[in-house]
Amino acid sequence: MGSKLSPGHAGMQATSCYTQTALEIEGRLVMQRLRIDLIAAARPNFMKVAPLFHVLHGQPWCRSRVVHTGQHYDQNMSEAFFRDLKLPPPDLHLGVGSGSHAKQTANVMLAYEEACNADRPDLVVVVGDVNSTVACALVGAKLHIPVAHLEAGLRSGDRRMPEEINRLVTDTLADILWTPSPDADENLAAEGVPPEKITRVGNIMIDSYELMRERIDAAGERRRLGLENRPYAVVTLHRPSNVDAPVPLTALVDQLTSMAVRLPLVFPVHPRTRKNLEAFGLWSRLADAPNLQVIEPLGYVDFMSLVCGAHLTITDSGGIQEETTYLGIPCLTLRTTTERPITITEGTNRLVTAAELVPAVDEILAGRWPRGRKPQLWDGHTAARVAADIRRRLLSVPPRVAEATAIPAPPTSVRWATSEPGSGHMPG
Ligand code: UD1
Repeated sequence: MGSKLSPGHAGMQATSCYTQTALEIEGRLVMQRLRIDLIAAARPNFMKVAPLFHVLHGQPWCRSRVVHTGQHYDQNMSEAFFRDLKLPPPDLHLGVGSGSHAKQTANVMLAYEEACNADRPDLVVVVGDVNSTVACALVGAKLHIPVAHLEAGLRSGDRRMPEEINRLVTDTLADILWTPSPDADENLAAEGVPPEKITRVGNIMIDSYELMRERIDAAGERRRLGLENRPYAVVTLHRPSNVDAPVPLTALVDQLTSMAVRLPLVFPVHPRTRKNLEAFGLWSRLADAPNLQVIEPLGYVDFMSLVCGAHLTITDSGGIQEETTYLGIPCLTLRTTTERPITITEGTNRLVTAAELVPAVDEILAGRWPRGRKPQLWDGHTAARVAADIRRRLLSVPPRVAEATAIPAPPTSVRWATSEPGSGHMPG
């Protein structure tokens, strides 16, 4: 059986990342390759995109393109994650960098709209809740390109968090909502999202951990920091509510420096936090405190190896609340709300104020802390469920044919025809 490119795709476009959209086999158009954009922007996105990229890569029924918006750009906030997670260099780098919320969001929109007009995908997959997530969802929606949101339905109920606004808007616009947990399904139902748009797929972060588990176990970061076989805590802080004003940040520095006396702390410092610690004159107090190691942000493997060996974590991150629940490690979250309540009801997480930190650490050290359990579908197979859902919803040929057909690399780049496949395949 011979296969060749459909004659309808003869136009050339040298810059196209997507090189093949349809195949003619035995004179019949049997399959259209879906062109899927995976939007990666900031540190917490990379471990959500990587498992999906790896599952989609090499599938005969799709081609994916990794689009890095450039929201995070430091070597250790971006490249280190691409390397660790075995992601290829992005197909497209929009290079937007930092800025106010409006400026960053607008710059992503301008650049991504141009990219879509030049080389239109059939599906835009956005992940998480950063500014680039909402920006690319807006672009896709306005160009009538189906948008899918991975990690949909999470709500903190606190609209002062920029991420909450991003979640609300993204979920309003998305055509497909992939949720991690039943609370997310309930949130979407309460907002009137039709159930047929929602598929519960589980927690994609756990896929990354499972993919990298051997390398994480083998990493030498604990030894390098002199923490092997010693109790210690990992600290991360970057939320504006904790680090952008002198009063809360000073209170946290006070607590951390006094806690380090009873438990060694290691604190990879986010660029936003470092900038503010320096601006408020707090940096040397932290850096010079005994038993407290302030270090540069770490790549994924080294960071997870530190978390895996820790007695507990102190954080305001979203992802770490989930990773510690999966690993059964106590987590103290320095926030008044969480969009991930399952990490409290089923896992090892508790919300605390700065003043509650020390007594909570004492409880943990005394062994009085819930061990938690792994939430359903947090099992390392979320990316596979996402891929199956994409195929079910968007492919116009029966899966059996798509599966059976191996597609050879195309001889040339071909232009996408704007009339095909794309938006015509959305259900309803
Ligand atoms: C962003 C996300 C947040 C996520 C966090 C993880 C939004 C609204 N916020 O917050 O949800 O939890 O990423 O890190 O999208 N900076 C650097 N180098 C970098 C990136 C940032 O120096 O590679 C500096 C910027 O100049 C800026 C500050 O860090 O001053 C904040 O960066 P920004 O991307 O605006 O937000 P984050 O705080 O990282």
